[in-house]
Amino acid sequence: MKVVIGADHGGYHLKNSLLDFLLHHGYEVIDVGAYDDEPSDYPDYAKAVAEKVINSEAERGILICGSGVGACIAANKFRGIRAAVCHDTYSARQGVEDDDMNILCLGARVVGEELAKEVVKAFLSAEFKALERYQKRLQKIKEFERTWKKKG
Ligand code: RB5
Repeated sequence: MKVVIGADHGGYHLKNSLLDFLLHHGYEVIDVGAYDDEPSDYPDYAKAVAEKVINSEAERGILICGSGVGACIAANKFRGIRAAVCHDTYSARQGVEDDDMNILCLGARVVGEELAKEVVKAFLSAEFKALERYQKRLQKIKEFERTWKKKG
């Protein structure tokens, strides 16, 4: 599986550990930065990761900032992205199985490295269960993306 990973300065060190972890486990990984821990802006990495996923250059994305929150908010602005902050393995697995989550967001100031690896493992080894009710819900979300406009 091809995975894209990105982080701001807050997630830079965790990104490097996860990059080694993923390569060691045989994943093909695109690293979109940051390439140092100088202050940077998480929306830039959210965009880079989201674009790779939307353009099918990677099947899944991993985004890291200090809390996971900012990166997640930014990533979800891109049509077709279903990103969530998960700091437990249950949500990381179920988010894919039920909700077809395609970007996992992590807060490097929230989770330790070993837990982050477990969460990543759960995220990447899960598959969307294309049950009718799950697909129906996803269709509703896609409809929001396609049609929703502010009144007035
Ligand atoms: C950067 O200091 C920090 O605000 C950012 O990494 C992230 O936590 C935002 O949600």
